[in-house]
Amino acid sequence: GDTHYYTFNVQMTNVTRLCVTKSIPTVNGEFPGPKLVVREGDRLVVKVHNHINYNVSFHWHGVRQLRNGWADGPSYITQCPIQGGQSYVYDFTVTGQRGTLWWHAHFSWLRVHLYGPLVILPKRGEGYPFPRPYKEVPILFGEWFNADTEAVINQALQTGAGPNVSDAYTFNGLPGPTYNCSSKDTYKLKVKPGRTYMLRLINSALNDELFFGIANHTLTVVEADASYVKPFTVSTLVISPGQTMNVLLTTAPSPASPAYAMAIAPYTNTQGTFDNTTAAAVLEYAPTTTRNNTLPPLPALPLYNDTGAVSNFSRNFRSLNSARYPARVPVAVDRHLLFTVGLGTDPCPYTNQTCQGPNGTKFAASVNNNSFFRPRTALLEAHYRRRYAGVLLADFPTAPPHPFNYTGTPPNNTFVQHGTRVVPLRFNASVELVLQGTSIQGAESHPLHLHGYNFFVVGQGFGNFDPVNDPPGYNLADPVERNTISVPTAGWVAVRFLADNPGVWLMHCHFDVHLSWGLSMAWLVNDGPLPNEKMLPPPSDLPKC
Ligand code: C2O
Repeated sequence: GDTHYYTFNVQMTNVTRLCVTKSIPTVNGEFPGPKLVVREGDRLVVKVHNHINYNVSFHWHGVRQLRNGWADGPSYITQCPIQGGQSYVYDFTVTGQRGTLWWHAHFSWLRVHLYGPLVILPKRGEGYPFPRPYKEVPILFGEWFNADTEAVINQALQTGAGPNVSDAYTFNGLPGPTYNCSSKDTYKLKVKPGRTYMLRLINSALNDELFFGIANHTLTVVEADASYVKPFTVSTLVISPGQTMNVLLTTAPSPASPAYAMAIAPYTNTQGTFDNTTAAAVLEYAPTTTRNNTLPPLPALPLYNDTGAVSNFSRNFRSLNSARYPARVPVAVDRHLLFTVGLGTDPCPYTNQTCQGPNGTKFAASVNNNSFFRPRTALLEAHYRRRYAGVLLADFPTAPPHPFNYTGTPPNNTFVQHGTRVVPLRFNASVELVLQGTSIQGAESHPLHLHGYNFFVVGQGFGNFDPVNDPPGYNLADPVERNTISVPTAGWVAVRFLADNPGVWLMHCHFDVHLSWGLSMAWLVNDGPLPNEKMLPPPSDLPKC
């Protein structure tokens, strides 16, 4: 393959949205950040220079980073953050993957501003398993906060107040005409009639799953998280934070209107406050006259709490599973694990502040009632040097502390345990993991993301996972292969993966507010016996804590 060199200068840049000018961290002054384009098998060398007064690190979301966790990027997991004035080179090869992925900062909530597309084209001379599109266009969905995001996080961490409420959803950084003071910041996709476009969709929003649709047009899903799927056609899709999706859009041969609206709106079942606005962009066949700036009619999107629409949509996904792209689903299972994921509570530690959890408690989020505690140094380096003492414990609970039973009333996830705990896995262990959602305070789903791996989604359902009656219904033939899956609200999802990538790998909810509250854990995958089954040594410029 080829080698692609990029330089990321992280710097403060003034950006204005909704008539509010903020100084935000950007890569090379761009917001959203630069698009990286490689082919399957290529090497990427990204030199990061941190010129801001704040720690940063970058994650190449969905890249498997085989034996090379040093380039994965989550702060305090695979590396210490890059401090202000320091540099670090991410050097990795994209193996066995092609499609759309993305990159984002992985320190605190910095990814609200620091994100961009990572396009992986098929190998030279290799086409797509569908007709070649006329054009390919990345569309990143995001969120804009008028307030300082650090203030927003601190509020979320301290009391649990209103963390979900951004001021706008965005298309490629632009809020569009449904917000005040924003119509000039409208994303326009200019198209020709009768052609097929491939939209490379990326949900980089901090805390919201999103519905997406285009008025009078359908979308054919062909790829999810850089794995091909059996094509299916919908008028509305839903995409969780962290997920990516390639969809084909065939334009009308003779459009009735010069422009159509594209729209995104949140899917959430949370009873609390959230931003329920619809953001719009324009699919433009011909430039509309400047005087006529009215937004064309919005597409009909499901209601914000339409869980039925979401589960119907997610059941469409099947691996392409062709001769060229077989689905290598682990058949025998070595480890059966059940993790409960959800929000819990801690006692409110403040005397002069009100905590906003149930009965005045403070929110915590947990996996098997363990709320992740950020270590003081990177777990991967501790593992490589076998210096675990004071850094991590290998006793992450592999079953819930008490049998979980969702009866429609909130379970008692109170007073969670806090700690930096990992699940050790032997090299090549075949893991089946059931993620059971526990939803207090109404219901909400959790987009769980696994670093360093793709997993196969073999089953999902509502209510309690039933270890006797659910597994016979698993799809082991052509389950979708992904790196991020939404654990449905008050339901469960079962995934399988083969632990063939040694290192320490984070798994967490891709809602940043839940990640901040501790909905996170890590796997410690040991080296295999052969030389090509061992972790690579760390690069010499690995940052220190
Ligand atoms: Cu896209 Cu750990 O995140």
